[in-house]
Amino acid sequence: FGTQIVNNEGHLMIGGCDTVDLANEFGTPLYIYDTALIKEKIEEFKAAFSRHKEIDWQIAYASKAFSTLAMVQLIDEAGLALDVVSGGELYTALHAGMPASRIHFHGNNKSDSELRLALDAAVGAIVVDNFYELDRLNQLCAERRQSMDILLRVTPGVEAHTHEFIMTGHDDTKFGFNLDNGMAEQAIRLALESSYLILKGLHCHIGSQIFETEGFAEAIRTIYKYLDRWSAQLGFSPRILNVGGGFGIHYTELDHPLPIADYIDTIVATVREECDNRALPLPAIWVEPGRSLVGEAGTTLYTAGATKEIPGTRTYLSVDGGMADNIRPSLYQADYQAICASRANLPADKILAIAGKCCETGDILIKQAHLPAGCTSGDILAVLSTGAYGYSMASHYNRLPAPAVVFVEDGDASLVVRRETYADIIRLDVPLQVKTHNDN
Ligand code: LLP
Repeated sequence: FGTQIVNNEGHLMIGGCDTVDLANEFGTPLYIYDTALIKEKIEEFKAAFSRHKEIDWQIAYASKAFSTLAMVQLIDEAGLALDVVSGGELYTALHAGMPASRIHFHGNNKSDSELRLALDAAVGAIVVDNFYELDRLNQLCAERRQSMDILLRVTPGVEAHTHEFIMTGHDDTKFGFNLDNGMAEQAIRLALESSYLILKGLHCHIGSQIFETEGFAEAIRTIYKYLDRWSAQLGFSPRILNVGGGFGIHYTELDHPLPIADYIDTIVATVREECDNRALPLPAIWVEPGRSLVGEAGTTLYTAGATKEIPGTRTYLSVDGGMADNIRPSLYQADYQAICASRANLPADKILAIAGKCCETGDILIKQAHLPAGCTSGDILAVLSTGAYGYSMASHYNRLPAPAVVFVEDGDASLVVRRETYADIIRLDVPLQVKTHNDN
């Protein structure tokens, strides 16, 4: 991040491909993923864990960040596990050939049919979120005489924010079993009583885009405080501790992500210390990164169109996509950085507002983008770090067809999601039947 490769035509290069050529070949808007960078991030996580020889670990990609057949295949090839949160993500994973044993299933309101899909496939684990689900899953397993490994999602009262973490003391969240009011303990009792549910351990997730390690440590310490009682009274000690995802990435130069090893070292050291203090066995440590594996690897290419200059105020440069392919700026005021991909050799000496094309005043992708003065209609713009929660949160607002997705590596580009056509847009519509008039 920060150092961009520019060819002698002045075009931005990604994965050895000229982005202007990609825009010409596949059209815009276009999501491109630098798969070598995804593999690098995966290796960074693996290397961080490998330094801790005494620990069993698992890295599960949180597929909500970006799920397609090709992406799941890449994760499968790298030997990672996969976190899914819906029947749709599970279906995608199974169709991509991901071994079910390496899939675990999250979500705070899994339907019976989603649970059945997971049981049919025999996924590796179901992360049970609430009492209703505990009961439904137990009944479904009993009906089928099938056992299932589960983790219980607990809420440790730690909320990590981008640049800090806070202890909320209590947890007002829709997710998980609260620790402080006996919910988690009751869930553990029920799970231990079940003949079909095999309680493997606990899960927590403290937030997203986290730039400090202390929130993870605090969450682990909080859970272990409760484990004193649970191990003594219930004989329960987790064999798996899943600490979720949330590792922060670069969107703009204001973001300063930590090396992955910093998070993993803190997580491992805290778990080891807490176990040593209580003479509890070390659990396997699972993490679930989404954004940190795919976020920076993704770039969205747009073609610039209309401009509007309000003298003394600002200039809007509109692109052929917007909130339909990236809802994050309008939903979270998320910041992004852009490059004029077709004039990437010129200094970024002008500030422009990059507007989307949706009929909504708030559809502004970047309020203050630094771009070359000459960047205008017809240029190709690249918005960086759009790989997580861009495609996966895309909508059809204004009936904009969903962009194509291309994987690039070593100068090769492969289409992994075709661009939607107008015909695709009305594919599921059922027109009103034309009534035939009957005069009788
Ligand atoms: N595990 C669980 C249980 C989660 O809920 C999430 C994200 C993750 C793992 C992965 O978190 P990551 O490593 O990607 O931060 N749409 C929002 C992010 C929502 C995250 C929801 N859960 C965004 O665009 O920023």
